[in-house]
Amino acid sequence: MLTEDTYLDRVLTMEVGRCTEAAAVAASTMIGRGDKEGADQAAVTALREAFNKLEMDGKVVIGEGERDEAPMLYIGEKVGTGNGPKIDIALDPLEGTTLTAKAMANALAVVAMAQGGTLLHAPDVYMDKIACGPGYPEGVIDLDAPVEDNIASLAKAKGVDADEITLCILDRERHQGLIDGARKMGARVFLIPDGDVAGVFHTTEPATGIDLYVGQGGAPEGVLAAAALRCVGGQMQGRLVFRNDDERARAERIGVAELDKKYNLRDLASGDVMFAATGVTNGTMLDGVKWEPGFVNTHTVVMRSKTGTVRYIRARTRR
Ligand code: FBP
Repeated sequence: MLTEDTYLDRVLTMEVGRCTEAAAVAASTMIGRGDKEGADQAAVTALREAFNKLEMDGKVVIGEGERDEAPMLYIGEKVGTGNGPKIDIALDPLEGTTLTAKAMANALAVVAMAQGGTLLHAPDVYMDKIACGPGYPEGVIDLDAPVEDNIASLAKAKGVDADEITLCILDRERHQGLIDGARKMGARVFLIPDGDVAGVFHTTEPATGIDLYVGQGGAPEGVLAAAALRCVGGQMQGRLVFRNDDERARAERIGVAELDKKYNLRDLASGDVMFAATGVTNGTMLDGVKWEPGFVNTHTVVMRSKTGTVRYIRARTRR
């Protein structure tokens, strides 16, 4: 028999997709307008409105920042009707604000939901990350090993030479050492301008050709990516990076107990997770929002870790 919990879980998973659809559609009105703050704001407003229709007692644990710096969807903000299950929410209403402002590929609206207390409450600092897709023996990658060793280990596990391994890395000066190391091994490097939730997720889909994600990006994005990997499989490790005392204090303030810990996938997202993402601009795995007279078309992925179900949903809604 379907228990109330299972019912809510199944219903909520689909509802999360409706929420990311709403955020993506709102953000899409700002594609190519050179206004990344405006694009983010449009997504935030729409996402909050969509959340508040849901029967849940939701709390934002990863959001737009702390209460004093974000008027909406700040960390600790309550969302939903207040009835229903207690849910922790990690969100990035617009992952890729610059991508949207410049009409570049792979901007997404992203939300993860989980039982209270099971998502790492990551502060808005950087995180060193490494991730690969499913099907490899546990421990095939290690955040603390040189990139060359990780490439060699993954190539061996995949049964190919190192020059058949492709890494995804954010195109930043701080990653030059990683890029050089990878190229010295003969591996390919797929550089992305922004958007490392998609970057990590790409390792789980053979069609992207990406085997390994490495580099430093946002810590909140790290938790969102981990939530996605919990649903589809794969391995990931991350460690928070603090550039100053203020950032450490920020982490302590929101309750991070082990500041220097090497987190694995289940430390980042330990419970049953629901994840949804809707394309804003066209991307490798999701199409962007398309407008036509009277209608808007969206492309969304929704998934949950309990069952491992992954649904791609194309929606055409009246406008
Ligand atoms: P925004 O959506 O805030 O523009 O962030 C995009 C992003 O590329 C993330 O995907 C990534 O984790 C982070 O920024 C990297 O930060 P930085 O641009 O400072 O290197």
